Amino acid sequence: MNKIADIFTSLDYGPAPEATDVALAWLGAHEGRFGHFIDGAFTAPGATFATENPATGETLAEITDGTAEDVDAAVKAARAAFPGWAALSGYERAKHLYALARLIQKHARLFAVLESLDNGKPIRESRDVDIPLVARHFYHHAGWAQHLARSFPGQVPYGVCGQIIPWNFPLLMLAWKIAPALAAGNTVVLKPAEFTSLTALLFAEICAKAGLPKGVVNIVTGMGETGAAIVAHPDVDKIAFTGSTEVGKIIRKATAGTGKGLSLELGGKSPYIVFDDADLDSAIEGLVDAIWFNQGQVCCAGSRLLVQESIEARFIAKLKARMATLRVGDPLDKAVDIGALVAPVQVARIRELMARGIAEGASVYEPDGQLPARGCFMKPALVTDVSPANTLVDEEIFGPVLVAMSFRTPEEAVALANNTRYGLAATVWTENVNLALDIAPKLKAGVVWINGTNQFDAAVGFGGYRESGFGREGGREGMASYLKPKWEKALKLASEVLAASNSPHPEPVEDAGRSRNPLDDAPGIDRTAKMYIGGKQARPDSGYARPVHGPDGQLVGEVGDGNRKDIRNAVEAARAAAGWGTSTAHNRAQILYFMAENLSYRAAEFAARIRAQTGTDGEAEVAASIERLFAFAGWADKYDGAVHNPPSRAVAVAMVEPIGVMGIIAPPSRPLLGSVALFAPAIAMGNTVVLVPSERAPLSMTDFYQVLETSDLPGGVLNIVTGPSAPLAKTLAEHDGVDAIWCAGDAELSRTVEAASAGNLKQCWTSRGLYYDLADRDVFEGSYFLERATQVKNVWVPYGA
Ligand code: NAI
Repeated sequence: MNKIADIFTSLDYGPAPEATDVALAWLGAHEGRFGHFIDGAFTAPGATFATENPATGETLAEITDGTAEDVDAAVKAARAAFPGWAALSGYERAKHLYALARLIQKHARLFAVLESLDNGKPIRESRDVDIPLVARHFYHHAGWAQHLARSFPGQVPYGVCGQIIPWNFPLLMLAWKIAPALAAGNTVVLKPAEFTSLTALLFAEICAKAGLPKGVVNIVTGMGETGAAIVAHPDVDKIAFTGSTEVGKIIRKATAGTGKGLSLELGGKSPYIVFDDADLDSAIEGLVDAIWFNQGQVCCAGSRLLVQESIEARFIAKLKARMATLRVGDPLDKAVDIGALVAPVQVARIRELMARGIAEGASVYEPDGQLPARGCFMKPALVTDVSPANTLVDEEIFGPVLVAMSFRTPEEAVALANNTRYGLAATVWTENVNLALDIAPKLKAGVVWINGTNQFDAAVGFGGYRESGFGREGGREGMASYLKPKWEKALKLASEVLAASNSPHPEPVEDAGRSRNPLDDAPGIDRTAKMYIGGKQARPDSGYARPVHGPDGQLVGEVGDGNRKDIRNAVEAARAAAGWGTSTAHNRAQILYFMAENLSYRAAEFAARIRAQTGTDGEAEVAASIERLFAFAGWADKYDGAVHNPPSRAVAVAMVEPIGVMGIIAPPSRPLLGSVALFAPAIAMGNTVVLVPSERAPLSMTDFYQVLETSDLPGGVLNIVTGPSAPLAKTLAEHDGVDAIWCAGDAELSRTVEAASAGNLKQCWTSRGLYYDLADRDVFEGSYFLERATQVKNVWVPYGA
């Protein structure tokens, strides 16, 4: 026992252990063995695996490894429960969510202790952060349930949602998934991570206690294969996944062409930028939270410190001094800062990454002091002397390891911050409000914290840019990702709709393409329409033209036969035109209005061209296209963000930003409107576009070059590559310079595009051979495509007293 005088000298903390008896009693009540929770009850345990306390290595319980049959039983239960749950009034669903929130609060300490036992996180965090946020999520979503019909008119739930979550915030990730899904009227099958299933099972019991109807929430435990079985199940309507980018890409490929909704919240390598005028003591405390919260096992961890060169030495010295005071040890001790990592395999992985970084030249600082003799503990580590190419700068470490680099100017800070394939979060520390607000919009990240870090709230969307995934959790955006338009659920096959309609539609002409003698078609004077790239007409790289035939098979013109090289050039031009995204919305509106006006001057000419290619009423299509340009000119300065008021001393500014470069494959029919309906919302929101117009009837869009040239559209904002849709679509989908892809194509092409998009996790919209009536003003002059052309960035700004 320390003497009081010694304690005054050492300032040592005595042990302050949290009792575990209630949590252990709960495990005991289940005899330490768990089945799944399906259709409102626990199943008998099947083949099991052990879940361990990572602080001690002791087994806490045996968990069932879910089979495909278990998943099927859970999906069947969720399917059976869906109609009843979806048909409840919003108020009734709100009461259920409220009941869950109340019971979580009632059992908050049990949840917190169980979480810390199973995961290794300090009780201070599970008790003060994780569980209160879980309760807050259910409260918040009770409100969405009640106001759903008013807030999302015409939207309906997907049906059965398959949800797969990681081990770093086991119950919090469950809440982020289950609360919005239920509020929207979906039923769920959720798989917790294999290392941390216990709080999900306790939650299942709470659902039963709260009187949630059977089958609305089903929990199936297991390994990655169990997750894969959920993804593969044909009767699951939407997949929501949080975890590694690697598995996110596997899931993107597995769901390609299935029509399942998909949201992915993946890894990160988030920058933590400290300018020389920052309040350094606050910035140090923020940094401790950014990288050592939950042992650094946080997808949005501020794992890359970027500090201004002029204060680098001082800041690093302060940081090292602070690191030496961090207490690593028993997660159940209330005075511990850093607990245990989740499992030995994670410790081994982190050590291996660190060894690679050191071999590549990095230096590592760890404070003195002893780690506990057993368990998955690591000291906080600071890595310096790294180049941007070092493994530790590039890879998500997911552990208590901070990598530090310096910068000189704000421009360099932004360049370094964005020099990553991820884009989940970023932090900016400065006392200069102008600098902070200049930097925040330039960071490619879904969340930006100014003079703060790791702030979360149910009312504020969270999610990534780029390879950090797509879709949002929390806030209005999070609700939207569990809903879809009612009409979209009732779409019919395009082939059937077109066959049944009386209006003439272009059928593929047998010999379209270059199969016949090219000289047969060639007119005396070459009038082959070129590509449109970077604001200029460009010859096709192939040097070949392809004929365009009218409905009776007669030749009506020729266009360039585009290939991979043309697409690459077009993507380069679109990337170079990124300034369009920061031009004013008024400017973008103005140019769309000009386009409409210039198209109207030539309405007769365009109508004749449509008739020549398709035999349809060109006048109506031109009029609809002019109206559509007007519609999106009107939206350009109106579809914008919101300001949220989370329960902390901050506001969160939800900014609507363009996604970046979009590839668009226009549908075969409606040569003009089919393209306009898709590119107008995309460029109205500030994206730049590579458009592949209708393969059969491309001349309306090659004629459109002159409209573009007379409308002041900056070069590179809209690039047009004619040619065969399928290979051009695939090239666009595979191109890492393309951030999103829309493809109005058949089922097979849609599947190809979605699978190929996994490379850099493009956001996709595909029509999968279904008939989207793009002429329908009610739907397509609204927000449908605007939502898909944008992503929301939440900037947290300290505010108020
Ligand atoms: P993981 O991505 O493999 O696991 C996450 C969840 O997905 C678990 O429930 C797992 O069982 C499930 N899963 C695994 N393979 C699957 C598949 N093929 N289909 C469907 N579900 C599948 O992450 P893991 O292996 O636990 O951790 C590895 C690394 O991933 C970590 O070191 C870290 O870098 C990163 N990670 C990132 C997270 C984040 O939130 N950004 C969360 C967890 C891990």
